[in-house]
Amino acid sequence: MTTLRRIMVASGALAATVLAADPSPGEIGGQVAARLFAGLMTTLQEKIASEGPEAAIAYCRLEALPLTAEVADEFPQVKNVRRTALRVRNPANAPDDTDRSVLEEWLAAWNPLSPPEPVMKEFTADDGAKELRYYRPVPVMATCLACHGSGAEIPGKVRAALQRDYPQDEAVDFREGDLRGAIVVTFDAE
Ligand code: HEC
Repeated sequence: MTTLRRIMVASGALAATVLAADPSPGEIGGQVAARLFAGLMTTLQEKIASEGPEAAIAYCRLEALPLTAEVADEFPQVKNVRRTALRVRNPANAPDDTDRSVLEEWLAAWNPLSPPEPVMKEFTADDGAKELRYYRPVPVMATCLACHGSGAEIPGKVRAALQRDYPQDEAVDFREGDLRGAIVVTFDAE
């Protein structure tokens, strides 16, 4: 296990502690993001091992995880969960200004051995509706390189499939330990 992975696993376990009776958005966000992060990693690892990286392409989507629906049922306070990044594969995940400011701040001080703490941000939509958002950083692990790495790290068939499905793909050439993006857990704010 790399040092980075040990840190991420440890922080996931910490966030999975039992929640108080009336948990705050920060506590819920922590739990939801930690579980989805772990679920994504495990699913990708399993699918790559059992079916190969090309077949696993469909599984790097939160919507593809049964866990996402389970978490939505368990925490009705959560309005939505999504992912974003400064360099995206799917343009639908492109950051808005609030996302971008969080990601840029993290990137400027990024140290993979001590990833930044998650942050809460308030966001006001054009119609005045307010949201509270919980942002958790997502680092690049070895498992991610088959689809987000560079050169021969991405098998030819995977590269061809990505070019076909994501012609505007910007999410390659990452190295292990880089900041990949964020998991964002959103709540309605009064
Ligand atoms: C088998 C290929 C594959 C692997 C392995 C993989 N991804 Fe992805 N990743 C994708 C695809 C395809 C998308 C676009 C999903 C979509 O359409 O929303 C994506 C999108 C993302 C996004 C959303 C932002 C964007 O670029 O659209 C993040 C964040 C992300 N991946 C992180 C990771 C991390 C972290 C790992 C390793 C734990 C990983 N990925 C491993 C294929 C992969």
